[in-house]
Amino acid sequence: MANQGVNDPIHEPVNTGRRRFLTATTAVVGAAGAGIAAVPFIKSWNPSARAQLAGAPVTADISALEEGQRLVLEWRGQPIWIVKRSRAVLDALPTLDSHLRDPESDNADQQPAYVLEGNREFRSLKPEVLVLVGLCTHLGCAPEMKAEIRPEPFDAEWKGGFFCPCHKSKFDMAGRVFEGVPAPTNLVVPPHHYVDDNTIVIGVDPSQANTGAA
Ligand code: FES
Repeated sequence: MANQGVNDPIHEPVNTGRRRFLTATTAVVGAAGAGIAAVPFIKSWNPSARAQLAGAPVTADISALEEGQRLVLEWRGQPIWIVKRSRAVLDALPTLDSHLRDPESDNADQQPAYVLEGNREFRSLKPEVLVLVGLCTHLGCAPEMKAEIRPEPFDAEWKGGFFCPCHKSKFDMAGRVFEGVPAPTNLVVPPHHYVDDNTIVIGVDPSQANTGAA
C-alpha cells in the first residue's frame, strides 16, 4: 500500500512565509515546568540539505528521549516532533474525548491509517511515542508543548498537550484538537516507521520500509 490514507498537506509544498516556527536539526525540549532538562545526546543521521528539500526520510535514535521530552527534527521543511508520553498522560487521553472535535481521528487526512490500528486515542505506533508535524492546523504557527498534567491559565483541567498562543487553539497529547478553538483539525501525524525499538524513520510508511520506496 503506497499511501495509507495520507493524501494530506504534508505532501504539498510548504508556505514557509506564513508559517513561523523554530527548528533545529536535532533538539530536545524538556517538559514545561520541569526546568531545562539535561539534554541527552540524541543521534540522528540526517541526509544532506538538498536531499532534505527533496523530501528524503529522516532517521533518529530516540533511546535517550525521556518522558515529557520532545525531540524536534526537520522533514520536508516542516518541524517534526517526537514526544515521549507518560502512563498518566496516556490514561488521561480517553477522558478528553467529549471535549474534542475529532476524538476518533475520523478525518483521514490528518494521520496514516496504521497509527489508529492500536488504541485510536493514542494516534501512534507505540503508545508512549507520539510523532507529529509541529504546525498548528489553523494558520501554521508553532504550538507550545505543555506536557504536564496541571492547571494552566488557558485550561484549569489541563491534561497535557499543546497550546497555540496566537489564537489559543488547544490540542491534547495525541495532537487532537479541542472544540471551540480556531484550529479545524487534529495535528498531522507524518508517515513513519521503526527500524528497531529506538530507531525511527520519518517519511516512510511501515509497508514501504523494506521495499526501498520512500
Ligand atoms: S495558528 Fe494556531 S491558533 Fe492560530
